[in-house]
Amino acid sequence: MLVLGIESSCDDTAAAVLADGRRTLSSVVASQDLLHAPYGGVVPELASRRHLEVIVPVVEKALADAAVKLADLDGLAVTRGPGLVGSLLVGCALAKSLAYVAGKPLAGVNHLEGHIYAAFLADDPPAHPFLALVVSGGHTALYHAQAPLRYALVGQTRDDAAGEAFDKVAKLLGLGFPGGPAIERTAAAGDARAIAFPLAQMTDQAPDFSFSGIKTAASLHVKRHGPLSPRQVADVAASFQAAVVKMLVRKTVKASLRLGVKRVVLTGGVAANTALRAALSAEAAEHGIALHVPPPRLCTDNAAMIAAAGTARLAAGERADLTLNAIPDWSLST
Ligand code: KG4
Ligand code: ZN
Repeated sequence: MLVLGIESSCDDTAAAVLADGRRTLSSVVASQDLLHAPYGGVVPELASRRHLEVIVPVVEKALADAAVKLADLDGLAVTRGPGLVGSLLVGCALAKSLAYVAGKPLAGVNHLEGHIYAAFLADDPPAHPFLALVVSGGHTALYHAQAPLRYALVGQTRDDAAGEAFDKVAKLLGLGFPGGPAIERTAAAGDARAIAFPLAQMTDQAPDFSFSGIKTAASLHVKRHGPLSPRQVADVAASFQAAVVKMLVRKTVKASLRLGVKRVVLTGGVAANTALRAALSAEAAEHGIALHVPPPRLCTDNAAMIAAAGTARLAAGERADLTLNAIPDWSLST
């Protein structure tokens, strides 16, 4: 089964061709990082306009790289949500047009399900049931993937997404955008024990996350001690990263043990973070939890993961018609 995936939910325009839900024949990602960098965050209006400019060449390149024509495809898959509405609409409109013209079936994919399906493109795909920690710029949530295409929300952030916190603290420290990779690089030269950032405790013991306290503490620290020397900036970056990692690891392991689900998938842009990968891997090993982490290039936004989830949905008989529309706040849990 040959599926073309299209992704345009935020600030990456991506297309990929996937064979049999596993073999990536091509994967093209046009990043908008440079476009948004001067603003320290994604500017929705600029994002949708850039998607419009590059999406056709991106899809053409994905088909050409895979040496595949539209007529060869068995189906198409496109991200319907969640994401920025203007950005999502560009991908949805193109996917519907191509599916209509080529007479091919189309599946609408939830972006978060796409992130989870990145794990099925790695060497050791997880078996169901498993717990998935999806940590991205827009989302931080734990899902119980009970069976294929069935998800229950276990916990989520009560304020910022982890990636959003990385981006905001990077901006505060003058490290540029996107903040995650910048913090990770800077943290390498810092001392993670330099500053004890507070970890939010949920009074109701819920498996939820909260990052606004750590972010505010970082902001206060900078105000109180600024201007910071490069050494101090590295210490804040390292301490902040360590606090976020600790929160993510602690909640995930606790939920896994409580639910008795001893397979965990770590995915989403923040899952590209080496410190997080290492810490969760160590903690999982200690508790007999099998951890599945896609390689970093599959953790950040791409269309191979959308094609993978789309393949599963098409195989299950799902068909989107021409009324398919973007759903900016689409929830994954059923
Ligand atoms: O999944 P993704 O590519 O897009 C969304 O769906 O949001 O995630 C992007 C987020 C950004 O906030 C970015 O700063 C963060 O992932 N990120 C990282 C790293 N690489 C990307 N955060 C921490 N460490 C990284 N190495
Ligand atoms: Zn994403």
